[in-house]
Amino acid sequence: MLKKLFFNWKMNPVSLQETRNLFSQVILAANNQPTVDLVVFPPYVYLSELSQQLQTTRLANLSIGAQDIASQAFGAYTSQISGPMLKDFGCQYVLIGHSETREAYKLSNQQINQKLLQSLESGLIPILCVGHQTDKTITEINYPELAEQVTVALQNLPTEFKTEFYLAYEPVWAIGTGKTATNQIIEEVSQFLKQELAKLSLANQVGILYGGSVDDVSIQELVKLRQVDGFLIGGASLKPEKFNKIIEIVTTQT
Ligand code: 13P
Repeated sequence: MLKKLFFNWKMNPVSLQETRNLFSQVILAANNQPTVDLVVFPPYVYLSELSQQLQTTRLANLSIGAQDIASQAFGAYTSQISGPMLKDFGCQYVLIGHSETREAYKLSNQQINQKLLQSLESGLIPILCVGHQTDKTITEINYPELAEQVTVALQNLPTEFKTEFYLAYEPVWAIGTGKTATNQIIEEVSQFLKQELAKLSLANQVGILYGGSVDDVSIQELVKLRQVDGFLIGGASLKPEKFNKIIEIVTTQT
């Protein structure tokens, strides 16, 4: 199956003009390679602009998403952006519980669960990010921590819930460090996550992603992964020469 690529721009680029230019490059890539599915997560302030830019293209294989979502739909929550607002601004996807967001706001798994329920209620496709927060070593996998992140975040889901849904495994030590988890670790963790999902009857519905230093070099090995459905990419998604190479490898080798 062709893998889906999610571009997390984090707090970049720093100007509207640069953002427009970078998004034009992504549009070009999506146009040139119609078999790849791309989703871009820009900072909130650029969502409106990129949504309009996207509408003029009519591309079916490119979407935009938000990097976070409020736990409530509206009200007195200064600085928060809600699901209905994101939907109204053309978002289809939302990142939930990225390790940088968890750390910055000291989010609990219960708060992540509230955000997740909000995303479903608003009709947004969630990408729930999980990864070892406390465990900084490369070979040890903190399974109890992963299990808790998944089970608490996914509690009280609506029974009729049928939407597309992703679980992204991003070990904190691999983010922005140039170190990727080995394929063996990623396969092992993916298998574990699928077992946890199976306990919640969600195994067939949730796609598994990997994130953490995915670039034009590491993708050559990562693309061989059979259990993952796509990649969440930070730094390399800001560099057209890198993401174009990633797209080329993913489309020719899956
Ligand atoms: P890098 O690809 O820069 O390591 O970032 C990964 C990430 O955090 C994607 O959400």
